Amino acid sequence: MKPIEWAVNTMPKTDDRHLPVMSPEEIKRARSFHESFPQYKETPLTKLPHMADHLGLGEIYIKDESYRFGLNAFKVLGGSYAMAKYVAKQTKKEVSDLPYQVLTSQALKEEFGQATFFTATDGNHGRGVAWAARQLGQKAVVFMPKGTTLNRFNNIKAEGADVTIEESNYDECVRMAADAASKVKNGVVVQDTAWDGYEEIPAWIMQGYGTMVMEADEQLKEYGCERPTHVFVQAGVGSLAGAVIGYFKNRYPVNPPICVVVEADVAACLYEGAKAGDGNIRIVDGDMQTIMAGLACGEPNTISWDILKNHTDTFISAPDWAAAQGMRMLAAPIKGDTPVTSGESGAAPFGVLASIMKDDSCQALREHLGLNKDSKVLLFSTEGDTDPDRYKAIVWEGKDR
Ligand SMILES: Cc1ncc(COP(=O)(O)O)c(C=O)c1O
Repeated sequence: MKPIEWAVNTMPKTDDRHLPVMSPEEIKRARSFHESFPQYKETPLTKLPHMADHLGLGEIYIKDESYRFGLNAFKVLGGSYAMAKYVAKQTKKEVSDLPYQVLTSQALKEEFGQATFFTATDGNHGRGVAWAARQLGQKAVVFMPKGTTLNRFNNIKAEGADVTIEESNYDECVRMAADAASKVKNGVVVQDTAWDGYEEIPAWIMQGYGTMVMEADEQLKEYGCERPTHVFVQAGVGSLAGAVIGYFKNRYPVNPPICVVVEADVAACLYEGAKAGDGNIRIVDGDMQTIMAGLACGEPNTISWDILKNHTDTFISAPDWAAAQGMRMLAAPIKGDTPVTSGESGAAPFGVLASIMKDDSCQALREHLGLNKDSKVLLFSTEGDTDPDRYKAIVWEGKDR
C-alpha cells in the first residue's frame, strides 16, 4: 500500500497581497448573492461525536456539500458568483444590484446580451457553470479530460451545455477552453484556477466558495464551538483550499486554525512545491488517473498558492485508498453518528485524518499537528456521490476504484 506522505511548510513568506480576496466584506457580498437564489439553503454541518471519540479527537465537524443546490457538490458557488460579478461589471452595476430575480430577468438579458461561457472541468465546476449559464439564459461550452466517467459527462449535458471529453488532462483542457473562448464573439472563460494575467474571475470564484466557509463558521458557533483548532481541506488546483484557509486567516488573524491541505498523490503539485521549499510553483503532468477526479489537477492556482504558502501548516499527498477509506467511514460511521454521503474528492481529507490518528506510520505527523483529545477539527465533504456507480463500487462492494 502506498503511504500517505507529507511536507511541513517551511517556504519563505510573501507580502500576502492576495489575502484580502477572502476578506469578510467580500464574502458577505457573495453570501448575500447566493442567499437570493430560490434553491438556497445552508448545507448541513454534521458533527461526529462518536467518531471523534473513536479517533482520539475532541470534536469533528464535516460540512456536507452533497446538499448544495441539488447539484451534489460545492462548486456551483464559485461559477455562479463569478458569472454574476462578470455580468455586473459589463453592465456597470454592483453585484448587490443583481440578486437572482434581477440576474435571470429578461430585462437584464437584453441589457447584457448574449455571451458564451467556456470552461474546463473534471465534473463539478463545469456542471455548476452549465447550471448557472442556463439560469442566466446564456450558453456554456465545457471541455472534460480523458478518463472522465459518463455519469459526470451526462450531468453537464443535462444542463444544456455543449460538452466534450478530450484526449487531454485537466490542465490541457483549461488551455483548450481559453483558446476556444478567444475565437468566439463574447466568449468568456470562467475557469476555477488563476494564472499570470488571468486573476479576476478566479478570485471571484474563490469568493463564491467563501459562502460555504462562512456558513460553516456560523454553524460551528451554533454547536458551541468558538473556533476550530484544525482545518483539513482538499486541493486540486488549490482554489478551494486558498478560499478556506484565506477565510480563516482573515477571520482569526491572531490565532488561525492549523490548516492542512490534502491532494491526490498523482496530482500533488502543491505538496511538491512545499517539499521543494523555495516557494516556487511545481507542476505535475501526465494522465493523473485517480478516483479523486476533482483533485486531478497538476498546475496550481497562482493566487491561492500565495495564500497557501503563507498560511498552510502541512501539505499531504494521499493515495486513492485513503479517499476510499474516508468514503466508507463517513457512509457508515460509529453508531449514533449521522452518516455522510461523501464522494472520492469529498472524503479524502477525512480518510487522511483517520489514518493520521490510527496508523503508527503517521505518529510523527499526528504529533507535529498536535491532534489529540482537545482538537476540534473541521472538514469539508465537497461532493456527494457525484459518480453514483463508482460510489457504490467503493462503498458497497469494497473496491478501491
Ligand atoms: C468535489 C471537489 N472537491 C474539491 C475540489 C478541489 O478544488 P480546487 O481545484 O479548487 O482545489 C474539486 C475540484 O474540482 C472538486 O470537484
